[in-house]
Amino acid sequence: MPTANGSRPLPRACVIGAGSSGIAVVKALHERSIPFDCFEASDEVGGNWVFGNRNGMSAAYRDLFINVSRERMAYSDFPMPTSYPDFPHHTHIREYFNDYVDHFGLRELITFETAVARADHRQDGTWEITLDTGETRVYDALLVANGHHWDPRWPEPAFPGADTFSGEQLHAHSYVDNSLFADRNVVILGMGNSAMDIAVESSYVAAHTYLAARQGAWIIPKYVFGKPVDQLPQNPRIPFKIRQRMIHQVIRSYTGDPERYGLPKPNHKFGEAHPTVSGRILDRIAHGTITPKPNIAALEGSRVRFVDGSTVEADVVVYCTGYKITFPFFEESLISAPDNHIELFRRVFHPDIPNLYFIGLLQPLGAIMPLAEAQGEWVGDHLLGDYVLPPQAELRADIAADQAAMRARYVASKRHTIQVDFDDYLYALAAERRAGAERARAHLLPA
Ligand SMILES: Cc1cc2nc3c(=O)[nH]c(=O)nc-3n(C[C@H](O)[C@H](O)[C@H](O)COP(=O)(O)OP(=O)(O)OC[C@H]3O[C@@H](n4cnc5c(N)ncnc54)[C@H](O)[C@@H]3O)c2cc1C
Ligand SMILES: NC(=O)c1ccc[n+]([C@@H]2O[C@H](COP(=O)([O-])OP(=O)(O)OC[C@H]3O[C@@H](n4cnc5c(N)ncnc54)[C@H](OP(=O)(O)O)[C@@H]3O)[C@@H](O)[C@H]2O)c1
Repeated sequence: MPTANGSRPLPRACVIGAGSSGIAVVKALHERSIPFDCFEASDEVGGNWVFGNRNGMSAAYRDLFINVSRERMAYSDFPMPTSYPDFPHHTHIREYFNDYVDHFGLRELITFETAVARADHRQDGTWEITLDTGETRVYDALLVANGHHWDPRWPEPAFPGADTFSGEQLHAHSYVDNSLFADRNVVILGMGNSAMDIAVESSYVAAHTYLAARQGAWIIPKYVFGKPVDQLPQNPRIPFKIRQRMIHQVIRSYTGDPERYGLPKPNHKFGEAHPTVSGRILDRIAHGTITPKPNIAALEGSRVRFVDGSTVEADVVVYCTGYKITFPFFEESLISAPDNHIELFRRVFHPDIPNLYFIGLLQPLGAIMPLAEAQGEWVGDHLLGDYVLPPQAELRADIAADQAAMRARYVASKRHTIQVDFDDYLYALAAERRAGAERARAHLLPA
């Protein structure tokens, strides 16, 4: 039987999901010879990046392109082909994840078309996993990589008149392409990346496109100085405030203030909200093909009324209002994320349940994949006994400090509960892995 550091038998792990986070963790476990099963509801890897995924969970639309550059999205040991553009289409990304699992021989390690229906934490600390086939299996550790952009958050509460509105209402999650908008009056709600993309797509075919927002955002172009914007130097050793000031100046010199385009003035500084990246939205507004509006106040028959009292005819309203973090397989009393709030040590370790890990459950200013990869390796080390967590008091203080820092920095919103800075997170995680490896070595020393 394979053994971990200290010669105890290796724990047997279960991984839920083989999206881009799940496949990264599968590789880390496989490389460490940790026995595991990975269950994937769909018939292929890639999760969100499989347009029309048969799991019904993908939010990808026909013309979705990534908004981080290919260099920043790639796993550390598997670059995206240089034949890909800087910001590839979802078909490239799907192909990349398939190439990744084939290159590292991971495909046969994944059980496809099998969903985890229940995950129960037993009295003895093990996990009882019930599959949608009805079968149950028991594991020593559970790694959750079920994604957090598949359960649509509709406006809460619904706008007055939503139940009697004569037009069509949909959430961005079910948006497919702009044929829906042809010659119609369209209202798009939100200032995140879904709203930007869908408003731009609508602007080419709709009779009128209105972009409604309850608060402003800094719009980040895809390129500055001829390079993808996320390739600007981001040294985590330079204090955030200084980096913030520098990047703010660069972005402002490119686009000017959002109010200049009729958009609401952001009530925060650059870097204090999840980035809204669009190379096209300001252009489309400047061409008069998108009309900015404040928040929706009510739906009135065939019209939408905004909070400034203005009204427009509307055939379609698209709610680009974000997503809920949901774990349908857990008993809610055990694990849930009300208002997207879930406290974890460095976004991975549950403070009360030592054999429960979350992979990819974070919102970086940057791509998720390299972070999920680093998390997978970290968890692999923990399962091997090569990494030991800090003492409980220290761990809880770390979580509390992290929560306080996030509240202090970000605009209050259900979309800002799991934010991290890409480079800072990787840097801090590497330091924590080194510290935990030291603790592991100290544990092994004879008393
Ligand atoms: C429109 C859109 C565009 C985006 N663009 C970017 C981008 O450009 N760059 C970026 O970094 N991020 C982007 N994101 C964020 C997105 O979350 C990540 O790109 C990525 O999909 C996260 O991968 P994941 O594996 O964590 O989750 P997912 O891709 O959602 O994969 C989760 C997997 O788990 C499986 N699963 C779920 N529940 C179960 C279960 N109970 N049993 C078995 N299997 C299960 C699903 O079938 C799925 O395959 C975007 C999100 C959206 C909605
Ligand atoms: N091309 C791409 O790569 C691409 C495209 C789409 C999405 N994405 C990614 O997918 C994830 C989800 O993005 P998203 O844009 O769908 O969601 P999001 O980032 O959560 O943005 C939701 C938007 O809706 C607003 N909103 C929420 N509830 C509202 C309400 N009741 N009334 C009015 N406004 C409301 C929010 O405003 P507040 O800020 O006030 O809460 C915010 O502007 C992000 O990680 C994003 O980067 C990427």
